[in-house]
Amino acid sequence: MSAALEISGLSVRYGRSTVVREVSFSVAEGESYALVGESGSGKSTILRAVVGMARDISGTIRLSGEALEGPRGRGFARHCQMVFQDPYASLHPRRTVDAALSEPLVIHGIGTRADRADRVIEMMRAVGLDERFRFRFPHQMSGGQRQRVAIARALMLDPKLLLLDEPTSALDVSVQAEILNLLVRLREERGLTYVLVTHALPVVGFMCDRLGVLRKGRMVEEAEAGQLREGRFSDPYAQELYRFSLGAGERQGQAG
Ligand SMILES: Nc1ncnc2c1ncn2[C@@H]1O[C@H](COP(=O)(O)OP(=O)(O)O)[C@@H](O)[C@H]1O
Ligand SMILES: [Mg+2]
Repeated sequence: MSAALEISGLSVRYGRSTVVREVSFSVAEGESYALVGESGSGKSTILRAVVGMARDISGTIRLSGEALEGPRGRGFARHCQMVFQDPYASLHPRRTVDAALSEPLVIHGIGTRADRADRVIEMMRAVGLDERFRFRFPHQMSGGQRQRVAIARALMLDPKLLLLDEPTSALDVSVQAEILNLLVRLREERGLTYVLVTHALPVVGFMCDRLGVLRKGRMVEEAEAGQLREGRFSDPYAQELYRFSLGAGERQGQAG
């Protein structure tokens, strides 16, 4: 069976600077894979390359065996969706929850108006949002509720692969664990594959099977989550990241 996502020799440039260098990794179907590394190491850029938001790239990106080239079409949106760090920025300020969740269905010509309403309510339930939020706007909700909306929106077309770019780092610590628990549950229920970008190793231990460590655009190490729990890394930078995260993990409490 082909990998859900296979990236080989990926390089990404912005102008003259190469910010991702010859990165290769693959994510099996149903797996949860983390990309970790300090700020600016190229994590988000890799996700952007997958969804076609980075233009100057070389290497290959395969989704379930199929090489991705050029603008991502409708088939792509039904297969792969991205959830961004800041739900306030990713949701349209003047669209209600109902409008935000219906939109992907309308664009793809799915269902009647009544079918779409049913699906909106079903997905609101799936992400733990009360129906009374259905006609609210983003500013009338908390950060955690907004991120639930963003997750529901990403799931409207029933994709198989979710790219999660620091999905909890803009949220209050007390809410982070709730959203992480939700993501774990949704993956189990829907057999999803995740690529999760984070700088918090405790989050990786909690919800990922494997991880890749990026430094300055290069993949310096790949490890199993078990190795992470024991701090067994061979790369010195990965070691350092691990030691640093031990302190951060304690401060983050339940997020680990
Ligand atoms: N649109 C852009 N134009 C130019 N440089 C960018 C752009 N986006 C990101 N970069 C640079 O690319 C590098 C990697 O960024 P990014 O992938 O966002 O890192 P991370 O997500 O790991 O924090 C950084 O040095 C950043 O400044
Ligand atoms: Mg980033």
